[in-house]
Amino acid sequence: MNDAKVAVTLAALLLTAVAGVLWFTRPIDTELAAATYIEPVASTGVVHEYRLVAAPTTGSLTEGTETDLWTYNGATPGPEIRITHGDTVRVVLENNLPEPTSIHWHGIRVPHAMDGVPGLTQAPVAPGETFTYEFTPPDAGTYWYHSHRRGNEQLARGLYGALIVENPAEPTYAVDEVWLIDDWRVDDQGTLDPDFASSADVHHSGRWGELFTVNGATGTELRAAPGERIRLRLVNTANARILQPDFGALDPVVIAMDGLPVARAFSAHGVELAPGNRMDIDVTIPSDASGEFSIGDFFTGITPTEIARIVVDGDPVATPDFEPPTEGLPDWSLAADDPADHTVTVTLYSEFAEADADEQEAMLAGERDATFRWELNGEAWPAAETLTADQGELQKIRIINDSGQFHPIHLHGQFFQLVSRNDVRVSEGHYRDTVLMSAFETIEIVVGAYDVGTWMLHCHIQLHAEFGMAMLYEVRP
Ligand code: C2O
Ligand code: CU
Repeated sequence: MNDAKVAVTLAALLLTAVAGVLWFTRPIDTELAAATYIEPVASTGVVHEYRLVAAPTTGSLTEGTETDLWTYNGATPGPEIRITHGDTVRVVLENNLPEPTSIHWHGIRVPHAMDGVPGLTQAPVAPGETFTYEFTPPDAGTYWYHSHRRGNEQLARGLYGALIVENPAEPTYAVDEVWLIDDWRVDDQGTLDPDFASSADVHHSGRWGELFTVNGATGTELRAAPGERIRLRLVNTANARILQPDFGALDPVVIAMDGLPVARAFSAHGVELAPGNRMDIDVTIPSDASGEFSIGDFFTGITPTEIARIVVDGDPVATPDFEPPTEGLPDWSLAADDPADHTVTVTLYSEFAEADADEQEAMLAGERDATFRWELNGEAWPAAETLTADQGELQKIRIINDSGQFHPIHLHGQFFQLVSRNDVRVSEGHYRDTVLMSAFETIEIVVGAYDVGTWMLHCHIQLHAEFGMAMLYEVRP
């Protein structure tokens, strides 16, 4: 090697080293965002029109019972809206409830005016009034719609439904179903507990119920032949309950989280599904199977509580042989070591806890009220600060849970990646719109701020949000 060559080689090595260092220490920038979920979708020109009438209804959640529900078009869940990617949805909401309402399209990047947040993106829809929502979902996947006003009661009484955007580029499953999983607090007659804001629930983990339903009923069964390959779209529509689906002897893989496809399919065993979360699974019924498979919830128990069943039925079919649908994504966990753009601390403010002994006595005696609320950076909605971003920015938000409760944190309008838990980097290989944080846990998320508007960032435990746990995330053009 002559001197000139040595010099060139050394320079090249040095450059590579510098580039390497730069790569690992580079600040979050928009380049990282290349190849995200942002892909313009060509409109198909097809418009699906629905009229959703929100009204009180008497219905049955489990055989032989009746209770007062609030539903869309007379049943909970409301109609399943299923469209092809590129189609447009037009929904006329008619409000026949005794109070104002609105519909939010959970996880769908809708134009800001269609986001369904009363007082922010639209006026509340008063009793007797209508409001028309119209949008073309930019991303295919599993989504759901629900009331976004007084969710602690309106969701708990049944105002929700599924919205599925099929991607024609993905393999078709002969069985493709949605399970909207909910729990209800009922008495032994199956009547809904009418106290939708008990102070114990607000202080603790929200309103959990004891009656599980799938698609509004107990005893839900999905029939499938031996060898059948199924796409099952699981949605946690509960007010507060966290699920950990149990599949018994079946071996499903997760192919999508919160709507969007994962980078590589992974086992569905042990995956937690917090309120708001979705997970699409790909599961094959063994070709020699017969009888039934119990699908349960494992989150609270040692033995799973059954929530539904897959019943094996009919002659064996040939199992279709295709790769599970996946899609690459940039790894935003590169940003885990960078400083946070925003820090949000979650606390529970309790006037009782702050009071002196005399005052506490008066509160206990019922002589004066003790207020309490969930706060973000020391303020409750609507006083909480607004976080800001410029369009196109990748931002890291650090969220510190300084409370002993779980909080499923949900952001409207954009997807994010979870990049660390308790300062340990994680790389999940999928986007999210909702992430569960445990008691006293710190998490970091990286948000791709692409959709201009002022969006809600809130806890999806309905009573926590109702009692203050919400703030705004403003993406400026
Ligand atoms: Cu699923 Cu702001 O809600
Ligand atoms: Cu919460």
